Amino acid sequence: MKGNLIIKNAYVATPVGISAVKGEKMGFLREIPNATIVVRNGRIVFCGPSSDAPVVNEADYEILDANNRVALPGFVDSHTHLIFGGYRPDEFEWRLKGDSYMSIMERGGGIQSTVNATRIADADDLRKKALWFIDRMSSMGVTTVEAKSGYGLDLESEMKMLDVIKSLEDDADLKLRVVGTFLGAHAVPKEYKGKTDEYIDLMIREMLPAAKGKARFCDIFTEKNVFEIEESRRFMQAAKDAGFKLKFHADEIVTLGGAELAAELGAVSADHLLHVSDEGVKAMAEKGVVATLLPLTAFALREPYAPARKFIDSGAAVALATDLNPGSCFSGSIPLTIALACIYMKMSIEETITALTLNGAAALDLAGETGSLEEGKCGDIVLLEFDNYRMLPYYVGMNCVSTVISKGRIVSQN
Ligand code: NIG
Ligand code: FE
Repeated sequence: MKGNLIIKNAYVATPVGISAVKGEKMGFLREIPNATIVVRNGRIVFCGPSSDAPVVNEADYEILDANNRVALPGFVDSHTHLIFGGYRPDEFEWRLKGDSYMSIMERGGGIQSTVNATRIADADDLRKKALWFIDRMSSMGVTTVEAKSGYGLDLESEMKMLDVIKSLEDDADLKLRVVGTFLGAHAVPKEYKGKTDEYIDLMIREMLPAAKGKARFCDIFTEKNVFEIEESRRFMQAAKDAGFKLKFHADEIVTLGGAELAAELGAVSADHLLHVSDEGVKAMAEKGVVATLLPLTAFALREPYAPARKFIDSGAAVALATDLNPGSCFSGSIPLTIALACIYMKMSIEETITALTLNGAAALDLAGETGSLEEGKCGDIVLLEFDNYRMLPYYVGMNCVSTVISKGRIVSQN
């Protein structure tokens, strides 16, 4: 019976399609009152009005009565730094008192501080810690999460992180799907201070070949005084040549041109974009690069929010994700992400749902697998407590999710 499930009496609200939804189309959700969803062997075989539902032998299925509650596709958190040693509450407090994120990093804190803790951490402990976060993500409706390396910054420690991520990815009993990203270019490690090109050479020579097969994506922190545009271009071109799909941390702290570079190199997504230029917005829209916006990070850093409306009004596809990490954004809150997107980024509720489901899936190149409630997709489904999806931002920062289903299995119930 594993992965065989029938949901009756649901109010389905879902984006539609097997690729990112762009521009004004993000505001459209297919709504089906009195719906039935049939999942067989983990895949949706029917999602439509109950009157059209196929006759099946119910004894082979788990039956769930939604009592008219909303059924959405499972949420896709397409940008997290889920694996890390230690915590940095001291830095958070320094920032409250006026320190900036980059000045802490330049003093040897920030990412390097988590690198020190991650290098000495045991792989099993990193895995256990990730599982603790995964439980919480699942209870908020996340059925797919991306996880980056990037706190090792040497061959051995980066591979330790990627092996932990791969073990989660391969674990069929996990409550959600994990997708791995190699982020060796998260910072220049202290051993290579002032020798960025040598560190890039090392990544190209040793880390990219070792990461192949462990991660499908390669990401970089393209930022002033971290990896500048020329350095980013050289490394990401090499990653592309090695067969990785590309993601960028782009224009997070200052306007540098990361968005334009992501478009030039055909990245799947560029993320953050708080300080993206108008040319960057245009280039991403033209090249179909998903703009993954991370409002929790802007909130936690007291920075302006990314220009979601500009992206949508320019015809780009916007995804939303949490950026869970121990530094800039120690939060994985889906409810708060939804609230900030609607209240401060002026996204409609429907656009926000599309951004957290189908467009998140597209940002991981998984739009054919998950992100909408349609036949052929995986049975990744969230039932809300309510019969109206508009409750999501209105119940500000609170969890509206009652039941979470991953590949047809009930994995969380609140
Ligand atoms: O997405 N900006 C770079 N990377 C992370 C923060 C990592 C950290 O502070 O540990 C981000 O904001
Ligand atoms: Fe990040």
